Amino acid sequence: MNKAHTGPVTKDGIRIHREADFAGMRKAGRLAAEILDRIGEHVFVGQTTAELDRIVEEMVNEAGAKSATIGYKGYEHASCISINHVVCHGIPGDKKLKDGDILNIDVTVIVDGWFGDTSRMFVAGKLGRKAERLIEVTHEALFKGIEAVKPGNTFGDIGHAIQSFVEGHRMSVVRDFCGHGLGSVFHAPPNVLHYGRAGTGPVLEEGMFFTIEPMVNLGRPETKVLADDWTAVTRDKSLSAQFEHSIGVTASGYEIFTLSPAGTFHPTYG
Ligand code: MF3
Ligand code: CO
Ligand code: CO
Repeated sequence: MNKAHTGPVTKDGIRIHREADFAGMRKAGRLAAEILDRIGEHVFVGQTTAELDRIVEEMVNEAGAKSATIGYKGYEHASCISINHVVCHGIPGDKKLKDGDILNIDVTVIVDGWFGDTSRMFVAGKLGRKAERLIEVTHEALFKGIEAVKPGNTFGDIGHAIQSFVEGHRMSVVRDFCGHGLGSVFHAPPNVLHYGRAGTGPVLEEGMFFTIEPMVNLGRPETKVLADDWTAVTRDKSLSAQFEHSIGVTASGYEIFTLSPAGTFHPTYG
């Protein structure tokens, strides 16, 4: 047992981390974000998602880090790559990207025992109007959630901020997948729901670490998992988008561990 990774746990099972733990998360988060920064130039029409995954794995290894997803519940890849109506957990493969495809690339690394988990949207070729709106709303929804993070607020406040914003744009929030506590483990309490009622759920405290990772659909929120047991798609085949950051609660608000060093978190900025 590594003593540096232990500390008090709340009644909801949520670990409270110490100042030194923030340094560990900064390093892990930064690497995950840098890998996504560097994968961007490899996303183009005709590229395969297997090749993108191979490059991600190479970057993880070159950094002397470990992939959190390889070997996780039998998953065999360093990334999840979810194209168009795939909501999350898309498995990299030989399919080539087509003009106008939108894709989420999700990378989780382990550095010195700390987990950095982030995902963002990329585009192959020319971005369509509807896809652009979806990406815009999903990105902004993540930040509405992040802005609700401060001690004394609740997890329901985060979900409510995201849901009300997304539904205000006549899009829908996926209910079947959620964010999660993380730190020296990949998935820990609580489930971070991207919908909900203000003032409900556990109270946020300084030192909590978790992800916020809303999945937003242009159509209905229902999903189904394909026969491969991983790939989640929208039931109505509508387009879906997702952005994910790993966050820590600070005395006055939040720290984002997975900010893009290159400033390219949003695909059409920078
Ligand atoms: N990175 C994903 C998340 O945001 C989890 C992927 S698990 C995998 O929680 F096994 F599918 F890679
Ligand atoms: Co996550
Ligand atoms: Co992730």
